[in-house]
Amino acid sequence: MDSQIAEPDAAARIASIPIEEIDVARPSLFQNDTIGLFFDRLRAEEPVHYCRESYVGPYWSITKFDDIMAVDTNHKVFSSEAKLGGIAIQDMHSVEGALELEMFIAMDPPKHDQQRKAVTPAVAPSNLQLLEPIIRKRAGEILDELPIGEDFDWVDKVAIELTTMTLATLFDFPWEERRKLTRWSDVATAAPETGIVESYEARREELIGCAMYFKTLWDERINEEPKNDLISMMAHSPATRDMPFLEFLGNLMLLIVGGNDTTRNSISGGVLALNQSPDEYAKLDADPSLISKMVPEIIRWQTPLTHMRRTALEDWEIGGKQIKKGDKVVMWYLSGNRDESAIERADQFIIDRKNPRHHLSFGYGIHRCMGNRLAELQLRIIWEEIHKRFSRVEVTGEPERLFSNLVRGITRLPVRLHAR
Ligand code: HEM
Repeated sequence: MDSQIAEPDAAARIASIPIEEIDVARPSLFQNDTIGLFFDRLRAEEPVHYCRESYVGPYWSITKFDDIMAVDTNHKVFSSEAKLGGIAIQDMHSVEGALELEMFIAMDPPKHDQQRKAVTPAVAPSNLQLLEPIIRKRAGEILDELPIGEDFDWVDKVAIELTTMTLATLFDFPWEERRKLTRWSDVATAAPETGIVESYEARREELIGCAMYFKTLWDERINEEPKNDLISMMAHSPATRDMPFLEFLGNLMLLIVGGNDTTRNSISGGVLALNQSPDEYAKLDADPSLISKMVPEIIRWQTPLTHMRRTALEDWEIGGKQIKKGDKVVMWYLSGNRDESAIERADQFIIDRKNPRHHLSFGYGIHRCMGNRLAELQLRIIWEEIHKRFSRVEVTGEPERLFSNLVRGITRLPVRLHAR
């Protein structure tokens, strides 16, 4: 048995592990939700911590808010380059047969900056405003189909459906085929061990299919009047219309993947958080104008991406520890978002915080989430539509969590709806 899965007396067992043996890379700790206890210890005893041995090799953990900011905003020393390992604790290996997409999230300047600039207009607030009524109408239609007073799985029936619906709306993707987007998003992030694809070759084939599909949509829209979907916006923008093929596909995939699991798990995480904090749920019920403050709080609380990783390009001191050139450095956003020295009552979910955007879930610096306003917009619309229809989304059983050290995911959440 995994000695770091500490059930039932988790706190006592975790407190007895020698600090140098703590390894927070284990996906099981996120799945059984004991990870917070490990981060509490690291922040208190050794906020910059070196793990010598793990299934992902040696790595540094950065666990406090200010230290994470210092790393995230110092891209000259801490690189995101795919060829050095990329942005996740597990190295991005170059595998024969895999399709190596160009994604600016795993690039350093100057290429990162040029590519990011090319697609930024697609998620500008003024453009997103145009999408709001369409997202709202479709979200309402999905919620109106749900059963009242009966148990069902919120993740399957709502979180996945709403996220897919939103993606399809953003791209103005053929509505009946919208589950293709969910599939491509899953395939793009899948390794063969997950069972989602059989091999890297199979993955490559599917992604080429995805590219061809998008190419057809692109070619149609470039010859039409500009519209307000992301494909049309990119096809007509001087900054993006002439992208080479792998750049076009890579950046499209980044827009699809970037907003998929993250938003899905924020939708489920919000329901769970409100049920765990009944006083906060009562506040929301009494005053739905709090939704715009609650949304960033949900994103902090859930922290849909637990970490981003960097590789040190030179020796660097942080928190009194000497990081060496080539070392793997992991910024644990999930831990920084619970750091009491930066966020008041960080271990509580509070929907009317004074400064709710003061969190790390979107990262900082040059790679700060490009879709952050889009993510907030989607969640705001969804919660406004939920509030109009249901006085309560009641969690009726234990949530099940994803076996992953990167995506903080909820895979099943039994609920029952109470009509307003
Ligand atoms: C980057 C989180 C939604 C597109 C990132 C990063 C994080 C993140 C942590 C990396 C930041 C860093 O390295 O400093 C989230 C969360 C979301 C969300 C928590 C939802 C709650 C979205 C959406 C889109 C999106 C809806 C779609 C447009 C991107 C892109 C990047 C990015 C394109 C790369 C930015 C760059 O490298 O310059 N996101 N994201 N994200 N995200 Fe999001």
